[in-house]
Amino acid sequence: MKTLLITGGAGFIGSHLVRLLVNKYPEYRIVNMDVLTYAGNLANLKDIEDKENYEFVKCNICDYVAVQKVFTDYNVEGVIHLAAESHVDRSIKDPFSFAQTNVMGTLSLLQSAKLAWEGNYEGKLFYHVSTDEVYGSLGEEGFFLETTKYDPHSPYSASKASSDHFVRAFHDTYGLPVVISNCSNNYGSYQFPEKLIPLFINNIKHNKPLPVYGKGENVRDWLFVNDHARAIDLIFHKGKIGDTYNIGGFNEWKNIDLIKVMIKTVDRLLGREEGASEKLITYVTDRAGHDLRYAIDSTKLKEELGWEPSLQFEEGIEKTVNWYLENETWLENVTSGAYQKYYEEMYS
Ligand code: NAD
Ligand code: DAU
Repeated sequence: MKTLLITGGAGFIGSHLVRLLVNKYPEYRIVNMDVLTYAGNLANLKDIEDKENYEFVKCNICDYVAVQKVFTDYNVEGVIHLAAESHVDRSIKDPFSFAQTNVMGTLSLLQSAKLAWEGNYEGKLFYHVSTDEVYGSLGEEGFFLETTKYDPHSPYSASKASSDHFVRAFHDTYGLPVVISNCSNNYGSYQFPEKLIPLFINNIKHNKPLPVYGKGENVRDWLFVNDHARAIDLIFHKGKIGDTYNIGGFNEWKNIDLIKVMIKTVDRLLGREEGASEKLITYVTDRAGHDLRYAIDSTKLKEELGWEPSLQFEEGIEKTVNWYLENETWLENVTSGAYQKYYEEMYS
């Protein structure tokens, strides 16, 4: 049985990827390594936790000795690395934990893979999941290509850029078989409600103010999370070693327009008068270093590997709003306790 190690599998994107791989490849053993930070939640994987080809290991990727042991104990042959501190606003308040997890944690995994696989790289692969934010910010025109120069602005994107460089350095210096993808903003079920879409759905539902940063004119390129998971599966199996692939939805939205779509959808599904919740929109101080626009050109992925997003945005957002409204217990559990303190500190 081939063993794949997924890091950060209890998080938002990781849990969708683990579910896809466990169900699609019964011949693989999928080991989910996660330390369960505030963003990691085993409830995200309830439906597959008893599957025979799935195992969970609680481990911090920064604990180099423990990570090495996981590689030997499980005879890991492939890694898909998603574990990270992922929220830009938190990185502005606490950059150290981002450098620690995203840079040192990635290095600990790379070094462990190198030690475990050295002398026999055949059939091995270290896949690093990264972000479009490493490319910086676009003006009104243009797209990020795989060749766009790195220009990160937030501590989060600087730490992700640094981890990307380490991954390439391990390929160039030691020959470690690696592949990297840089994806745009994901949305869908199981996303922690610190990020725009689940946070705003939850606030609209509870008639709470909607804190729009600046003028709400920043643009993001939104991709349904299952389409990201499909792309990772494809790149892991068919991507070219040493290469980078951009993943994006060709689906740009100005924040304020997206927020109005969310308001309309939640109001309709809750039986409120259309647009009733627009009064909740509250313009607040802008995020420091706020990137204006992200837009991914994923032509390479389409032309080389045949990937395309499967879902139109209107369908995806409807599914997503429905999921958060229907999964009240999940939402209540993740917004109790420490979340309240975070929310007060961030938005009061
Ligand atoms: P998330 O914050 O929802 O989940 C991160 C997971 O990593 C959590 O389960 C957490 O417990 C785990 N983790 C954190 N620190 C760890 C450590 N030291 N050891 C072990 N596990 C640890 O993040 P996400 O949104 O699912 O993002 C996953 C990856 O995808 C990240 O690398 C992120 O940079 C990248 N990415 C995210 C997006 C997006 O829109 N969310 C887009 C592009 C790329
Ligand atoms: O582009 C990929 C990146 O997308 C990922 O690498 C990150 O992990 C992920 O968090 C996401 O980063 P963003 O900063 O773009 O996502 P976020 O949901 O935090 O914010 C989306 C936009 O909404 C951004 O322009 C800031 C704005 N915003 C966000 C919040 C939380 C608000 O106006 N108000 C808010 O309260």
